[in-house]
Amino acid sequence: LIEVSNAAVVLKRYPDGIPTPADFSLTNLPIPHLSAGQVLIKTRYISLDPYVRGVIAGRHMGHQLALGTVIVGATVGEVVESNDDRFKVGDCVLGSGGWQSFWAESASTMRKLDPSNSTPSTALGVLGMPGLTAYAGLIYLGLPKIGDTVVVSAAAGPVGATVGQLAKHAGARAVGIVGSAEKADLILGEFGFDGAINYKTEDLAAGLARTCPDKIDVYFDNVGGATLEAVLAQLNLRARVVLCGLITQYNQATRPAGPNLGPVIGARAELKGLVVYDHFDKLNHWLKLGQTLLSTGALKYREDLSHGLEQAPIAFERLMRGDNIGKTIVALP
Ligand SMILES: NC(=O)c1ccc[n+]([C@@H]2O[C@H](COP(=O)([O-])OP(=O)(O)OC[C@H]3O[C@@H](n4cnc5c(N)ncnc54)[C@H](OP(=O)(O)O)[C@@H]3O)[C@@H](O)[C@H]2O)c1
Repeated sequence: LIEVSNAAVVLKRYPDGIPTPADFSLTNLPIPHLSAGQVLIKTRYISLDPYVRGVIAGRHMGHQLALGTVIVGATVGEVVESNDDRFKVGDCVLGSGGWQSFWAESASTMRKLDPSNSTPSTALGVLGMPGLTAYAGLIYLGLPKIGDTVVVSAAAGPVGATVGQLAKHAGARAVGIVGSAEKADLILGEFGFDGAINYKTEDLAAGLARTCPDKIDVYFDNVGGATLEAVLAQLNLRARVVLCGLITQYNQATRPAGPNLGPVIGARAELKGLVVYDHFDKLNHWLKLGQTLLSTGALKYREDLSHGLEQAPIAFERLMRGDNIGKTIVALP
């Protein structure tokens, strides 16, 4: 190895509200030593995901990040040393390296990526955890039927954009809720949604009535709060609501009062909680289907790419402010 140290971003202090770069510090750690069965990887792409805010705050599946530790996240990289026959130097892999330039991981928890795929960063987005979340949540919990109206929030992000396009493939109408005119143009133009509502400039109830004249059969909720409540008021009988994310709350120290659930009763609707980890048995199926749709142009995606490890805290703040357009990724040289 030419490099002698491992540049990493660690947690400096617990953020108050939206995380800013001052909450993180860039440091040099030793390059990890390999134990038996482990592989050393040089990081090429780091995935920044909303759930990391919950990990930092200790609100994600019981984990909390200690001060001074490397920020967690899925990563794609190149094997530089291997203590396991399944991986050789030069292999491109998906693992959980976090915000650092090298990581060591057990061979058994990593996945080798197809070298013929020229865009390995898709393993962090549309062909990774966010894509699987969209696929499993929409198809298995949302149960879209031909002619249904499917509404999704955070519709320009990796989960939302995939939900909308898969809804179209299932024969449904897709309507997206987004936070800017640029995102509205993106989902209508590039991703083929039938309707878009910019909740920052249009009253949400009026926007839903405008774009969903036959009301809503499936709502894929990525945000919670007032958006969820507005959609619940326009559900059709026996609608399905997939509760995927609560990004409007991730930067709040305490949980706000919940939405009024009265309309759920009136619509005899079902609310279903989605946790992507329950659906990894469908990953191979999704990878095959997603790859085919991507290669024929039937599925599109956007990446919000930054370059250099020192950009990770800045990109994370943008993600937490909702200023990202597409899957937030940091590329390392
Ligand atoms: N249940 C699971 O297993 C699972 C798995 C993966 C992801 N998720 C959840 O799915 C959701 C989408 O994830 P993603 O990776 O596709 O993220 P993403 O769309 O790239 O990220 C965030 C988007 O959320 C929107 N947003 C709405 N209200 C916001 C607010 N108050 N503050 C900041 N952003 C706000 C913003 O878009 P607008 O400008 O359009 O509002 C922002 O761009 C997240 O809630 C995530 O936690 C859940």
